[in-house]
Amino acid sequence: MEIPAQIPRISGDGQKIHQVLVNLLSNAISYTQEGGHIAIEVQPANGGVEVSVTDNGIGIPPEHLSRIFERFYRVDKSRSREEGGTGLGLSIVKHIVEAHGGWVNVESKPGQGSRFNFFLPGP
Ligand SMILES: Nc1ncnc2c1ncn2[C@@H]1O[C@H](COP(=O)(O)OP(=O)(O)OP(=O)(O)O)[C@@H](O)[C@H]1O
Ligand SMILES: [Mg+2]
Repeated sequence: MEIPAQIPRISGDGQKIHQVLVNLLSNAISYTQEGGHIAIEVQPANGGVEVSVTDNGIGIPPEHLSRIFERFYRVDKSRSREEGGTGLGLSIVKHIVEAHGGWVNVESKPGQGSRFNFFLPGP
């Protein structure tokens, strides 16, 4: 294994950034059919780090995309493989990332999958 000489640093609350990853990954798992794929990519960007969580799951209809970061907003209760989501996960993601001076973005195509991207600035 090769460890890069320069690992980009960010400053922030480790537990909260962990929560961001948990929320995005648990969505990717909930909204992707069995046997599907999920990828995580991390790369240095603009002095910070850009992270993406991509799945090839059910995707999000375009008319819902602008609202999914709102509190309690869910596209359709029957879409999840698991019951009982509250619609809070992504609002927490947005709140934490923005509190760290970053941004979060989504691209998605129904039936093809979704990519959530977030950026955290360097120290
Ligand atoms: N990776 C994804 N693929 C498809 N749809 C998604 C994905 N991530 C989120 N969504 C849609 O966005 C909605 C909002 O997501 P969010 O994580 O905020 O809430 P939730 O997963 O429904 O509930 P909670 O995370 O609070 O348990 C979800 O109900 C789902 O319809
Ligand atoms: Mg969720």
